[in-house]
Amino acid sequence: MDMRIILVEHPIDESLFEEVGEALATGSIVAFPTETVYGLGASALLPDSIREIFRLKGRPADNPLIVHLLSDKELDGVVASIPDAFHVLYEAFSPGPLTYVMPRGELIPDEVTAGLETVAVRFPSQPAARALLAAAKVPVVAPSANVSGRPSPTRVRHVLDDFAGRIPWVIDDGPCEVGLESTVIDLTCSPVRILRLGVVTAEMIFEKTGIEAVFWKDVVQDEVVERPASPGMKYRHYAPRATVRIVLPKEGLSMSDQLIELMDPEISIGLFFSESSWDEFRSKMDAFPPGLYVYTYEGASDLSKASHHLFDALRTLDEQGVELIYAEGFGGENAAAYMDRLTHASATNEDAEIRQVLFVCQGNTCRSPMAEALFNDRYGDTGWRAISAGLSTIPGWPVSEHSVEALREFGIDCRGMTSKPVNRRMLSQASLVVTMTTLQREWLRRSAPELKDKIISVADISEQSQDIADPFGETLISYRQVRDELSEIMDDLHRFLQQSDHL
Ligand code: TXA
Ligand code: MG
Repeated sequence: MDMRIILVEHPIDESLFEEVGEALATGSIVAFPTETVYGLGASALLPDSIREIFRLKGRPADNPLIVHLLSDKELDGVVASIPDAFHVLYEAFSPGPLTYVMPRGELIPDEVTAGLETVAVRFPSQPAARALLAAAKVPVVAPSANVSGRPSPTRVRHVLDDFAGRIPWVIDDGPCEVGLESTVIDLTCSPVRILRLGVVTAEMIFEKTGIEAVFWKDVVQDEVVERPASPGMKYRHYAPRATVRIVLPKEGLSMSDQLIELMDPEISIGLFFSESSWDEFRSKMDAFPPGLYVYTYEGASDLSKASHHLFDALRTLDEQGVELIYAEGFGGENAAAYMDRLTHASATNEDAEIRQVLFVCQGNTCRSPMAEALFNDRYGDTGWRAISAGLSTIPGWPVSEHSVEALREFGIDCRGMTSKPVNRRMLSQASLVVTMTTLQREWLRRSAPELKDKIISVADISEQSQDIADPFGETLISYRQVRDELSEIMDDLHRFLQQSDHL
């Protein structure tokens, strides 16, 4: 297919958008920049074009799309009614990277909402996106312009990597400013709920409007896991082929010193850091491991710059074929969306040949990461791979220091592991889920009854094994004991896995 690329010049010449706007309105697919990421656009009024988007992306049919509009004057027929919270949020954040879920209007076909009675709407601020919407004069659906499961595109090169020759139009206006997808907020419930984290945070929403938004995961804390309210949350996302590890700032240990400790000449490593961390690292190293690839962004460590470059870094380092990517982590509320994307990238391990065992404890900083590291150290090459997650944790906490020390004594390096909350995707992907206590097993079974057969606790593995107590806050001696207990059950667990052909 011939592909036309429109190179945008500033200030924008609207006549440049007439032909492509007309094409979009009459059924063509157009990739275009927004302030967050590039979108793959189609008219929201044409079911055939919308189906074409799903086909091109390989997107599951039950994952709905966002409708893009110029302003709130165009909501008629797109939404059935406007929730109270909308107006004040719109005043504060639109146009911009906030997406509103509202009752669906009669103009919107089933294909857009995947049959849901709600529709997601967003008003992009990026000037080329606005010129395109103005020229098309129709509501435009636009999922991120990547093949499903790949990192979202923040540059035209990424769009071309996935869709060159497969779509007729691409609008090129350089890199996207934000680099992470929009915050999605559900206005159909009370309190309003954030379904996807983005640069617009709950804190900002409260500060600017007084509206208290809750994060959907916090709402379901009691039930531990639930079918996410935003269907897209359950799918694999932002998944480079390499394993991703997060390096968090630590007191008394600079980024560069942490990196030096993480170097391993045996494997090819990719680094994603600021130029200044890299400079410092470089000045301290006498020689570099042969398989080292580096992606830096200019200046000192900076959350917005890191967000802006994250997806490009994951794609670029992946293209180098590295096995392991170390990426800079950030703390604090504002970093939640960045850490969310990074944690998703580090949680995936979907090689069809490899079956997964998922260890679950409470905080995912002591017991379950130790179990993961012990298992992979001993049995990681046998067609099984362990991952771990916590029942009540937030993403991005580093594995506890005593766990690191206890495993170091066994010759195992588990630095760089970070906590992940357990979710349904992990539960359904794993062939076996192993909790540290029978109580945790019961919680998980109750929240995912259809998966209960593959959820066991360590006490179920053999006659000798029993619950493993939380060493959190205790001395190294307790951590050593947990390590030894876990170490002992690993052989029994592996035998159990080999005997359970059905898993
Ligand atoms: O920043 C963005 O939002 C980008 C740019 C291109 O606008 N678009 C984007 O679209 O990220 P997509 O399709 O990759 O992600 C849309 C998310 C998915 O997680 C989807 O499940 C959720 O929004 N969503 C869409 N409609 C929904 C609805 N009615 N209820 C709940 N979640 C919805
Ligand atoms: Mg997407």
